[in-house]
Amino acid sequence: MENITFYNGNEMPIVGLGTFRVENSEQCKAAVKHAIESGYRHIDTAMIYDNEEKVGEGIAEALATTGLDRSDLFITSKLWLADYGRTNVATAYETSLKKLGLDYLDLYLMHWPGTDEALMIDTWQGMEDLYKEDKVKNIGVSNFNVEHFEALLAQVSIKPVINQVEFHPYLLQEPLRRYLEVQNIHAESWSPLMNAQILDDETVKAVASETGKSPAQVIIRWNIEHGVVVIPKSVTPSRIEENLDVFNFSLTTEQVEQLDRLNEDRRIGPDPIGYNGH
Ligand SMILES: NC(=O)c1ccc[n+]([C@@H]2O[C@H](COP(=O)([O-])OP(=O)(O)OC[C@H]3O[C@@H](n4cnc5c(N)ncnc54)[C@H](OP(=O)(O)O)[C@@H]3O)[C@@H](O)[C@H]2O)c1
Repeated sequence: MENITFYNGNEMPIVGLGTFRVENSEQCKAAVKHAIESGYRHIDTAMIYDNEEKVGEGIAEALATTGLDRSDLFITSKLWLADYGRTNVATAYETSLKKLGLDYLDLYLMHWPGTDEALMIDTWQGMEDLYKEDKVKNIGVSNFNVEHFEALLAQVSIKPVINQVEFHPYLLQEPLRRYLEVQNIHAESWSPLMNAQILDDETVKAVASETGKSPAQVIIRWNIEHGVVVIPKSVTPSRIEENLDVFNFSLTTEQVEQLDRLNEDRRIGPDPIGYNGH
């Protein structure tokens, strides 16, 4: 496992397990447990996924079977738009912690910028409060564009450590990633596999056959070559293992560029501009 290092000196494993659209079920618990037992040290969830309890149970069971400490893991959850506003953040955070059965998160993200700039900034101040009070290890954002950052950074004192956005070869997000690099804020990709759609792309399949790896492994490795944190979701034990088996090969510059050239600025999720959760 490789880690990235935030501007505050804290580290984050570059590959994690996604849990979106995984019901609060035994399957969810089993996937999280299997991931940690297979070597994952990073799990991504969110209040709105409605699975924090079973994610937490999976974590607890895996800690028991592996003998790992809580501090060996990196757990992310996200603040939903309905809980925005500085005075609501601490309560929402405590609710997520309670559901997860944890006493801190490694990373808490504002899930979307929303459509109200003043509310966005006010909410970030609530995130800063948590961080200053040492209740959370790191604070970040998700789905922020350059415009959102410009508004935010002009008015706040603590920068987000990371921005989790949709990112795959069909959506390169180049201007945003250049901006984040200048600001020393990391990028993290959601739906890295485009919900499995990108695995059928001919270029992806060609690079997979050149490297002797699967299309999913090629895409995950492509994220790593770009320095982007990546959280593929799977509930299938063999795929959970496959998606972490990406540290024994690399892509050539030419292979990375071939995949970059697939860009069509095509999203599968909502455009953050104008999205307020509905
Ligand atoms: N911040 C945000 O707004 C936001 C939005 C969306 C997602 N996310 C986060 O990003 C994570 C990943 O995104 P995602 O869940 O949308 O989709 P994804 O990771 O791009 O794709 C998941 C799909 O790919 C399949 N899959 C996984 N590994 C595979 C492999 N090795 N070979 C073939 N198929 C494979 C999975 O099937 P099985 O599960 O059946 O194996 C599932 O159908 C989420 O789970 C969530 O944690 C965040």
